[in-house]
Amino acid sequence: MKISPKMKKALDDQVILEASASNSYLAMASWCEVTGYRGSANYFYMQSEEERTHMLKIIHYLNNLGTLASVPATKTPTNSYKSLEDLIKSALKNEQTVTKAIHVMVEIAQKEKDHSTYVFLEWFVNEQVQEETKFETLLQKFDLIGRDKLAINEIDKMLAADAAAPADAAA
Ligand SMILES: [Fe+2]
Ligand SMILES: [Fe+2]
Repeated sequence: MKISPKMKKALDDQVILEASASNSYLAMASWCEVTGYRGSANYFYMQSEEERTHMLKIIHYLNNLGTLASVPATKTPTNSYKSLEDLIKSALKNEQTVTKAIHVMVEIAQKEKDHSTYVFLEWFVNEQVQEETKFETLLQKFDLIGRDKLAINEIDKMLAADAAAPADAAA
């Protein structure tokens, strides 16, 4: 089975997005670690690993089709944030960009009647719903609990608990 050059290019671009997301979460984890948010640091180190597995899924998919996946260079991610809330806002924005790119790929697969890629992408569509919800829920915490030092410490503890027992660990 072959995929079109257009679909291949879109999947290669997605590898770049997933690799960039992984690096970006690594930079966020470092910022959290240095700032004293240990729970959040663990959470984002884990998130970085997760994005790497997404990247690998696409690389294996392409390689299994006999279409060599390209391994991209990525831009240096930002590693300065005003606050934990600012950092999580930027994580949500990242995820929204990824969701859009995945939806564009689904449309290409539909148009080209590329059923294999369409089915392959289904996992990513569902994953993005979870990813966006995860960060939206976290952002709500700032409105619910507050933004003072104690509140942020509380939120950091929640992130520590999430990192220790990720909700989608079984997935
Ligand atoms: Fe991802
Ligand atoms: Fe993600």
